[in-house]
Amino acid sequence: MKFRRQYLYFVTQNRYQSKMEVSISGLRKQCKNKDEAFLEKDLASKEPIGQFKAWYDEVCAAKQVLFPGAMCLATVSREGFPSARYVICTSFSKDGFKFFTDYSSRKSKEMDTNPNVAATFYWAACDRSIRIEGHAEKLPDEESTEAFKSRPLDVQAAVWASSQSIPIESKSLLGERQNELREKFLAEKEVPKPNYWGGYIIRPSAVEFWQAQSNRLSDRIRFRRPEHGEIPDGKLLHAGEDGWVYERLSP
Ligand SMILES: Cc1cc2nc3c(=O)[nH]c(=O)nc-3n(C[C@H](O)[C@H](O)[C@H](O)COP(=O)(O)O)c2cc1C
Repeated sequence: MKFRRQYLYFVTQNRYQSKMEVSISGLRKQCKNKDEAFLEKDLASKEPIGQFKAWYDEVCAAKQVLFPGAMCLATVSREGFPSARYVICTSFSKDGFKFFTDYSSRKSKEMDTNPNVAATFYWAACDRSIRIEGHAEKLPDEESTEAFKSRPLDVQAAVWASSQSIPIESKSLLGERQNELREKFLAEKEVPKPNYWGGYIIRPSAVEFWQAQSNRLSDRIRFRRPEHGEIPDGKLLHAGEDGWVYERLSP
């Protein structure tokens, strides 16, 4: 397998030199086989948060994913242009998925004008991905303050030193500012939370669980809220718990 990957890399590098196009499609690892399918009977819960927890526990047990809480968060600008970046989901519950950021960043400005967001986890070690759609709400300031206070001093000083997403002249200026602030806060023995920093919760309206299959007939089971008056028929649409319904989607 290692030799094959090296060979493919060699081939793609050569193509790169001649065509200026790097093909990386051959660098695909073996996925789960069809005996390891994700079927309706395998659902750990009939609502998405219980199911999320079951998969999250499994990926943590696999110990091969450095940041299992990393999710790619997509927001949309007022003009309708999407943008995506990773954030760390710090907790989840039946209320939703929480993360922390700078309220003056690009993502926050976009969520201010359009709270509809999407987020995706990808756990290659388990051949799994989870897609979330919902709307983002700011967390109460007390909760953000508590989260800020639990961070190490260096992280707190970095938050104070940086205005996220603003162009800067050089990195050294940031480092100097962080050092000055660390010294100041050490002397004052207290680090207040800046009012431009805090958390969001994504309240989900749909959560899809995707698991790869080596035959490409990947499994997709989506939980969503039912449309007005929609009744599960037990074939295409199944009754879940806590007001959710779920359905299998074509890969
Ligand atoms: C794995 C990973 C985790 C990250 N976690 C966060 C986070 O929790 N909060 C955050 O504001 N930025 C986080 N970042 C940085 C963001 O991806 C991004 O650079 C930053 O939030 C600015 O995005 P924006 O300009 O679109 O608002 C993380 C990046 C990576 C790669």
